[in-house]
This record gives sequence, C-alpha cells and structure tokens, in this order.
Amino acid sequence: MLQNSGVAITGSGSATPTNCLDNQALSQLVETSDEWIASRTGIRSRRLATAQESLSAIATLAAKDAIAASGITPLDIDLIILATSTSDDLYGSACKVQAQLGATKAVAFDLTAACSGFVFGLVTAAQYIKTGVYQNVLLIGADFSSRWVDWTDRRTCVLFGDGAGAVVMQASESDRLLGFELRSDGTQNNCLNIAYQPQSQELIPGVEVAKGTYQPITMNGKEVYRFAVQKVPEVIDKALFRANLSVDNIDWLILHQANQRILDAVAERLKIPSHKVISNLANYGNTSAASIPLALDEAVRADKIKPGEIIATSGFGAGLTWGAAIFQWGR
Ligand code: UT7
Repeated sequence: MLQNSGVAITGSGSATPTNCLDNQALSQLVETSDEWIASRTGIRSRRLATAQESLSAIATLAAKDAIAASGITPLDIDLIILATSTSDDLYGSACKVQAQLGATKAVAFDLTAACSGFVFGLVTAAQYIKTGVYQNVLLIGADFSSRWVDWTDRRTCVLFGDGAGAVVMQASESDRLLGFELRSDGTQNNCLNIAYQPQSQELIPGVEVAKGTYQPITMNGKEVYRFAVQKVPEVIDKALFRANLSVDNIDWLILHQANQRILDAVAERLKIPSHKVISNLANYGNTSAASIPLALDEAVRADKIKPGEIIATSGFGAGLTWGAAIFQWGR
C-alpha cells in the first residue's frame, strides 16, 4: 500500500579528478591571466579528468561517500538519478554507476538539465519519494565539461572544471524539502550549447541520414550572466514563498558555482549576508551539475552546515533552465 511521505536528504559525498590546472598554467594555453580570471570569475584552479578517468567512476566514488554518510547500503537503493550532460555514453551512464555500486535493486537513469541538473534531479527524486513509490534515492550530479571545452577559446575554457557530488534522499515522517520552483525558457536556447553538427550522408539515392559530431561549448557569457542575476533571485523568492518562509530563515545559500560575481549579485539582491553564501569555485571552477552537491558536501564535512539548518539552493544554465529548492539538511 503506497503512502504519501516526506523527504529527507540524509547524506552527501563528492569526488574530483586529481589533475589540477591553475590560472597561471592556463595562461600558457590561451591569452589570459590569473588576474583576469580571478577578478572576473573568482576561479583560481580547476580539476580536469584524464582519458583514463570515466564520469561513471567518479560519480560512483561520490555516490559511495553519500551512501556511507547516510547509513544505508547500495542494496537499499530503489532509484539512481545521474544528473549529467557529459555522460560516458549517449545512452546514459546511470546504469554503469548502478553496476559499479552493486545497487542491484535500483532502477537507474540519466537526467539532462545542464547546470540545473542537480536541482531538477532533487525535485524529480522527491516526487517518487513523496508519492510513496520509492524509499531511498541516490541523486548524483556529475560533469566532465573539459571533454567539450574548446581549449583555444579563452572566453569559455577558463570557466569549467570536472567533478561529481551526490546525495541520498530518503522517505521521512517530516518533509524536509520545504519548497521548490523549476523553470525553462527554450527561446534562449542558443545562449549556451554543445550542439550536434549534422552532416548529410546519402545511404542510397534519395535516402539521407545526418552523421556528425557534437561541437565544443559555445556561450553568450553576457546574456547568461544577465539571465542568472535576474532570474535566480526571482526563483528563490518563489521557492521561499511555497515553503512559507522568508529570506531571514535561510541559513545557507548554495548557488550553482558559475561565477563569484553572480553569487555576490544574487546574495545582494536577496539581502543575504556574504557569510551565509557557500562558495568553493576558486578551487573547482564551474563543474556544471556537480557544483551544488560538491559545495554542499564540502560544507557538511567541514561542519559548517549542521542538521536542521535551512538551505536555499539554485541551479541555472543551458536550456535555458533554472530552478530553486529550499530544504532542511539531515534527518
Ligand atoms: O554554468 C552555466 C552558466 N554560465 C555562466 O554563468 C557564465 C556567465 N557569464 C560570465 O560569467 C561572464 O560573462 C564571463 C566570465 C564569461 C565573462 O566576463 P565578462 O565580464 O562578461 O567579460 P566579457 O565577455 O565582457 O569580456 C571582456 C573582455 C573582452 O575583451 P574586449 O572585447 O573588451 O577587448 C574579452 O575578449 O575580456 C576579454 N576576455 C578575456 N581576457 C582575458 C574574455 N575572456 C578572457 C580571458 N582572459 N579568459
């Protein structure tokens, strides 16, 4: 018999590749400087995956930490959602993670919503728990954007890094997912893309197919910046309204780690003091769907975020997509 349930986020984990590229080293590759990158973005270094490192392996490492932290075992997991736009396989990598974890009872699938992937995944996972269908869900945000960066384009290559973060979400008597709001605007789709470039191939006379490859990341940085600074405060306000809370109730703000200036501008618009803003992008750059759970996990492990504290989180990026969730950490 299915019963409606609350949702609790009971454990987190994260993992990043060991290879590190700082701004100084990057300036050997393109015409840039530590001063430009740090002052315009706050980024000082990023982790980059090698050809031997797979997205599924790093996602599995993050997942193992989250599972251990939540006190369950892989066999308890009912559902695995892997939020990624850079999976090892176009058919998805979630099932590979399932196999690597030995989560034999779990159903697994990928969710693609770029840098909003973690927040979209959080809300998606919560629906399965709230309706009583599943008890234990593993949500992973993982991206290897370095695979798709044009390393000759200084406007984008300085921004991105690779990593993974994960949380375990469980059925709970009291609901800790207090409010959310998700949005999309496809009319601005061309602001940020890893676009497929088809090339026509004639199979037999009169029958063509489109064979091709994906192009590197292209981004209209100014437009995305403007969009983020305007839309993120709006969507957090909406999620707070749904949670019946105000800005003063927020203990921590964890935004998608795209640019320190965006973090500062959003916090300022919402009148959230800077000591409540979690930021680790200096060390990792923009890790896309991984950035929120990576920042969350570091703050939890550093004993910054404590059980019961209220977190406002927001992801934004390609699609365009954006969303916010307000949740209380822990059981
Ligand atoms: O996760 C998805 C979400 N993505 C984002 O949130 C990205 C949002 N956008 C941004 O963060 C910023 O727009 C950027 C960091 C991408 C760019 O910062 P900006 O202050 O908007 O710089 P800009 O694009 O206006 O460029 C200013 C100047 C230009 O030179 P000119 O035309 O003024 O001579 C650029 O060519 O800076 C130049 N420039 C660089 N110079 C040194 C651009 N990239 C670099 C670079 N190093 N890496």
